[in-house]
Amino acid sequence: MTTAVYPGSFDPVTLGHLDVMHRAAWAFDRLVVAVLINPHKSVTIEAGDRAAEIRAVVEESAPDVSERVEVVTFDGLTVDLAARLGARFIVRGLRAVSDFESEMQMAHTNRKLRPDVDTVFFMTALEHAYLSSSLIREIASFRGDVSGMVPPAVARRLALRAG
Ligand code: PNS
Repeated sequence: MTTAVYPGSFDPVTLGHLDVMHRAAWAFDRLVVAVLINPHKSVTIEAGDRAAEIRAVVEESAPDVSERVEVVTFDGLTVDLAARLGARFIVRGLRAVSDFESEMQMAHTNRKLRPDVDTVFFMTALEHAYLSSSLIREIASFRGDVSGMVPPAVARRLALRAG
């Protein structure tokens, strides 16, 4: 069984992330979406709540793969999580050339830490390539419309929070 881990902040999860999850879940037998618990970053909702939100969204929007997708929270190194899960692959999405430099650095560093764990990139679907969680947070904080960028349940949650 081939396991891959898809780590990220997912604050919030976007339609771009979901597209990557869906395609990665077809590529691997088991995909573990791992929400980083980052005490140094201020977040809109706790990692555990983000994980529960992602779980619900995957079940609703990707029922064809949902049984192969697990959602967990983690702290520490992604490669250590991969080792604990028996995952040989880390999944990341690439939106544009601007992502490349930092993603290449992370992939090489992770490989240095654990040569047996490889990073696999999915090109984010063209229609979602412009999406970014930080821009979505900003738009939502000013009560802008983020439907079409995030799943409906996430858009509702962000709108409620903005008041
Ligand atoms: O969605 P993001 O915020 O771009 O995800 C970044 C993430 C979570 C993949 C990265 O920060 C990470 O792997 N953090 C865990 C700590 C770690 O392994 N750091 C070394 C990376 S080379």
